[in-house]
Amino acid sequence: MAKHTIVLIPGDGIGPEVSAATKRVLEAAGLQVEWVELPAGATAIEQGYDNVLPERTLAAIKAHKVAIKGPVTTPVGKGFKSVNVQLRQKLNLYAAVRPVRSLEGIKTRFDDVDIVIVRENTEGLYSGIENEVVPGVVTSLKVASEQACTRIARYAFRYATKRHHKKITVFHKANIMKLSDGLFLNCARRIWEDEYPNIEYEELIIDAGCMKLVQNPERFDVLLMENLYGDLVSDLCAGLVGGLGVVPGSNIGDDAAVFEAVHGSAPDIAGRGLANPLALIMSGVMMLNHIHEEKVADKIKKAYNSVIAEGKTLTRDLGGTASTGEFTDALIAKLS
Ligand code: NAI
Repeated sequence: MAKHTIVLIPGDGIGPEVSAATKRVLEAAGLQVEWVELPAGATAIEQGYDNVLPERTLAAIKAHKVAIKGPVTTPVGKGFKSVNVQLRQKLNLYAAVRPVRSLEGIKTRFDDVDIVIVRENTEGLYSGIENEVVPGVVTSLKVASEQACTRIARYAFRYATKRHHKKITVFHKANIMKLSDGLFLNCARRIWEDEYPNIEYEELIIDAGCMKLVQNPERFDVLLMENLYGDLVSDLCAGLVGGLGVVPGSNIGDDAAVFEAVHGSAPDIAGRGLANPLALIMSGVMMLNHIHEEKVADKIKKAYNSVIAEGKTLTRDLGGTASTGEFTDALIAKLS
């Protein structure tokens, strides 16, 4: 097996705990890897960098093309611009891909959820262009470009085709945001008609779409949407399969990819060994498939499926009492 060089960003809050667990699992499964560990977020400032996204971290991801990242904290209503948004924009990681699947052993209202969210990751309301027009009146600009909308639509259809998904549903609000969401919709429709007419295609206004999601998630396959909707719907879908502790993600661009869980830095449980590392471990599995280490990926997947199905060693979010470390040990013990 070739040795891989992978950038590891532990992140803030529970980030160092879940990334240490992920590192242990990937190594125990046999991945030959040299980690380039670099900070981002509040941790970068604590370590003496003058920026939450140090140039060195960005340069390392550009050089090595693959990174796995713990969550980073973003201050609410004030302070620095989100590290995640900066990372996605600066590295042009235009597609966030988040598979949400039911796991045997995790009891929820639904048994057979198998949804992949494809979220446009570079524009929309995340452009960060906000303005105080006069005191007491502010605007926030939603940006949609034909280039980015077409790019994400083509990505979603290509992804669906490669992985044998049958249907793409676009969530939108083009009845209100006629220009921006209208453009998103037109681009998706055009790619469907011109390039992938064999995939089933559906458009839903997002409010009704959310209702259908919580009533009957099994009817959905791939969901395509713009940035903010993708953010919100990801957490909603996580709730259908057991919560944020079990939903992985990736941010994919043409030149680099950064793998990270959907969840945040969970300051309410940070530093106490309570975090579920599975979402980041699953993101690690996505990363392994991306770098063509499918055998190692499968080994880890089998091991976590087995630990979860047994139900003896689960973290608190899944109804168990195991610590982050105990869950990780149980998973490693199942690797074979
Ligand atoms: P959060 O996802 O950090 O936490 C929401 C709830 O889920 C909390 O009760 C938390 O304890 C629980 N939770 C999350 N991950 C868990 C895990 N692995 N195991 C067990 N429980 C888990 O969302 P919140 O509290 O809204 O945001 C906290 C911070 O994280 C904010 O600064 C936010 O900006 C940041 N954030 C960062 C993200 C990233 O770096 N990709 C993504 C989302 C939020």
